[in-house]
Amino acid sequence: MIAIGSDHGGFELKGHIIKHLEEKGIEVRDFGVYNEDSVDYPDCAKPVCEAILGGGYECGILICGTGIGISIAANKFKGVRAALCSDVFSAKMAKEHNNANIVCLGGRVTGREKANMIIDTYLEAKFQGGRHLERISKIHALEEI
Ligand code: RB5
Repeated sequence: MIAIGSDHGGFELKGHIIKHLEEKGIEVRDFGVYNEDSVDYPDCAKPVCEAILGGGYECGILICGTGIGISIAANKFKGVRAALCSDVFSAKMAKEHNNANIVCLGGRVTGREKANMIIDTYLEAKFQGGRHLERISKIHALEEI
């Protein structure tokens, strides 16, 4: 099960990604928003981050206009590793090296076909562990400063 959410700037792309994932037989829970009324992206990041930290979801997807605001907001949650990806190489590295638990996209930046490739690449990639595990531990140690 994948948790997905967006603000108004990511609403349209969110719909396309949900359709794409469901066509592949992947279950998705949509945490909103459900229309294009203007909202504040930190409010949209919150339910998806809480869902990821609560367990029961493989990963999260968050989308705003650029992907910037919602990724900054998501990374304020202890334990979240949100990676803003606008290319497939970054998506692969986000899982292999950073073990990102949330992928962020810009609905006004990345087209739907590319977004699907980014999500597919991230989902198919495997965390490599090893030296990357220690680096991730150091990221989370920063949360305690
Ligand atoms: C909303 O207009 C826009 O600022 C938001 O979607 C996002 O791009 C912020 O980083």
